[in-house]
Amino acid sequence: MEIIRIPRIMQQISEGHRLKCRSIGLVPTMGALHEGHLSLIKRSKCENDITVVSIFINPTQFDPNEDLDKYPKEVDSDIQKLKDAGVDTLFMPDAVQMYPDGFSSSIKVSGLDEKLCGAFRPGHFSGVSTVVCKLFNIARPARAYFGQKDFQQTQIIRRMAADLNIGCEIVVCPIVRESDGLAKSSRNIYLSSESRAAALVIYRALNAAADLIRSGESNAAVVKKKMNDLLVSEPLVSEVQYAAVYDPSTLDELSQISKENLLAIAIKIGETRLIDNMLVLI
Ligand code: PAF
Repeated sequence: MEIIRIPRIMQQISEGHRLKCRSIGLVPTMGALHEGHLSLIKRSKCENDITVVSIFINPTQFDPNEDLDKYPKEVDSDIQKLKDAGVDTLFMPDAVQMYPDGFSSSIKVSGLDEKLCGAFRPGHFSGVSTVVCKLFNIARPARAYFGQKDFQQTQIIRRMAADLNIGCEIVVCPIVRESDGLAKSSRNIYLSSESRAAALVIYRALNAAADLIRSGESNAAVVKKKMNDLLVSEPLVSEVQYAAVYDPSTLDELSQISKENLLAIAIKIGETRLIDNMLVLI
């Protein structure tokens, strides 16, 4: 596996593959790789000639009061996992290469970026869209792979790719869960064993809501109340930021259950913010 740190070199390598008609699959990550990331890599390897993984902890998607410095860094074990997974190229730039002096552009996907997590993390999705656009321009992928756990992120990136004619297919892969249902996340390492046990309330709330819908409940307020009641009943949940039923395309909150329903939750357990979601189609 080659490790490239300079954007211009990565671009030249990608251009070489494209000239030879080799398709590139890109898996953008911030490192601290887990089975969720590995499932994206597996899919990319099935669908492309070359798989490029990026590891870049993007400073512009963290608020000043967020956990940028604390974000887990596990470079050596990440590299080993990528080698074992058969990745062709690891692109691992630093912030100076990605945002050199004078950098002053940003992408805003209006509307979608203000809902759900956007209401609690102002500027976050602009940071994500801008860095993902840069990664697309650098790695020139035919396809890029993202996890459904960050559902809003995937919708914003799809919108950006369509609006800006990026010409890269956005592939969204299923959430990978622990055996007890907790969604895999790099942030799970912040959880003590008590907090981790408390975090299971998220999956319980999603399942309870999905069961209600499947048993014929049509009022989204009833489903929302069920989720919120369960979440606040867990003493270690310090904040419920949102827990409701949304239209998966617009991310608007639904008042009536529809054919396609996105159940989405963001809570804090202590200082750790956790998100999860489930699509319920009827
Ligand atoms: O989902 C993530 O890990 C990040 O938001 C991404 C897409 C790599 C952009 O920094």
